Order: sequence, then C-alpha cells, then structure tokens
Amino acid sequence: MAGWKSVQDRVELRNGCGIPCVGFGTWKMPQGTAGAEALHQALADGYRHIDTAAAYGNEETVGEAVAASGIPREELFVTTKVWNTERGYDATLRAFDESCRRLGMDYVDLYLVHWPAAQGPEGQWQRTNAETWRALEALYAQGRARAIGVSNFKPRHLEPLMAGADVPPMVNQIEMHPGCNQEATREFCRERGIVVEAWSPLGQGRVLADATLAEVAARYGCTPAQLCLRWCLQRGAIPLPKSLDAGRISENARIFWFDVSDEDLLLIDGLDPLGQSGLDPDTVDF
Ligand code: A2P
Repeated sequence: MAGWKSVQDRVELRNGCGIPCVGFGTWKMPQGTAGAEALHQALADGYRHIDTAAAYGNEETVGEAVAASGIPREELFVTTKVWNTERGYDATLRAFDESCRRLGMDYVDLYLVHWPAAQGPEGQWQRTNAETWRALEALYAQGRARAIGVSNFKPRHLEPLMAGADVPPMVNQIEMHPGCNQEATREFCRERGIVVEAWSPLGQGRVLADATLAEVAARYGCTPAQLCLRWCLQRGAIPLPKSLDAGRISENARIFWFDVSDEDLLLIDGLDPLGQSGLDPDTVDF
C-alpha cells in the first residue's frame, strides 16, 4: 500500500471494482444536521467512500449529503449492509430495496451481510447465511450491487459460505485496530483474495491514549489516530474511521506523508488486547 497519496486512491477488488483505500465510517452518526455536516466535511476533505448500514439509521442523511455534494455518483463508493433481522433470500432483497430507497440511489457500490447468523445448530446458521448470500449474488448479477461481501465473518463462517457460493465474497469488514490485530482472519482473507476493511480502526477512541502508540506517533510527528490508520493500511486493510468533529475528520484523511517502518508495524501488531468492542461474531445476536 506504500506509494499512495490520498484517501481516493483505490484498491482493486477481485471483480476489478476499485474501492477507495480509506472510508468514512458512519456508525452512531445521527440523522439530520450533525450527520450531514460531518458528511459534507468528509467529502470536502476528499473522502469518496462512505460506509453506512440499514442498522445505523442514517441512510437518508447519507443519500441527501451525497446528492447535495454535486459529486458525480460514479466518483463515490457507497456501502450499506443487510441487518440481522432481514436475513434469508426474500427478506434480503426487500431490505436492499428499502436501503436504496432511503439512500435515493438505484445501486450501491458494496452490499454486505452485516453479521453472520452464528447462533444455534451449525446446519441452520449455515443455511441462513447461504440464503442471504444467494440474494446478494442476485443483486450483484443485476448490477444493483457493484460488489458484495460480508462483515464480522470469521474463517469458520466464511468457509461454508464460500463452499456454496457462485460468487465469492469480495470484502470482509471486521473490527480491527491496534490491540485487535485480527491476524488469523486477515491471513485467511488474504489467501482467498478477500479485501479486509477495518471498522473502529481507532478502537472507538479507546486505544489513543496507549503509551506505546503515543511514543511511536511522537517519533513520526503524527497523532496516535493517524498512526492507527496507517497501521491498518500498511497491514492491507481499508480503515473506516468515523468522527463528527471537523478537525478530526480532516486529520484522519491526512495519513499519506509518512510510512510506518516494519519494526514499528511489528511493535503495534504485538500490543496487548486493547480497546475491543467486546462484540464476538459467534455470540452477537441483536
Ligand atoms: P469524535 O466524533 O468526537 O471525533 P472508531 O472509528 O475507531 O470507532 O473511533 C471513533 C471515535 O474516535 C469517536 O468517538 C470519535 O470521536 C473519535 N475520533 C475520531 N477521530 C479521532 C481523532 N483523530 N483523534 C481522537 N479521537 C478521534
């Protein structure tokens, strides 16, 4: 990932679609003015990749901000996700239509299964994921989702899904930040050509006071947040930082003037568990 110059530089997915290398996360971003202002700031700072979800309750605000920006739709990369209560073939197709209606868009760039259905008997959740996936494959075939993928899938969830898939997932969006390095899942995805995205790349702000990160960041003259985002990128993942603060939104886009050395990447890889959300895809059942 070295050599990149801006959040607009793209990573190629297995189907040739380009995905901007840093996205603007919108979990907990409110609908209405505060959310719209954050999105306007992000677009003004050059972000072209916006990550939302039906469950975030802010797709309308995302759609309105995109429309108001005047930026050509094809320059933007918009992701949304099907929520847990909408799994299965028919329900997922309906959920997708609803998301598009709220976004005011006739296609999305990336549609993700938000969480694996990992509770209950193996056969049952595997069937549920397979049915949901079949709907995503249909949307992909129709061109309504330019790329498809999953979120919060561990290798044990991905394996059965991929075994029955006609179109393998192109992306897996997982919690990843210093203190939660996700090496096993990243390696599994790398070997199979699945691009990893990092949600909560700043550990929801909880890792930023860590003494090691502060010391390393001081050596580069960057902030701990910029160091976290750079570490994600150099570990091959697309970070999706979120902020409602204009200064921090800009700060999180300015991460292309330094390279973290291999030695410091390893130091960060080895940080003790830190700042985790505590959401385990095997047990999460909202
Ligand atoms: P705020 O909206 O006040 O900026 P994550 O993306 O890992 O979930 O982290 C999001 C949290 O981190 C939010 O609480 C956000 O608060 C905070 N945050 C985002 N960017 C920065 C930054 N550059 N420095 C410090 N805190 C940040």
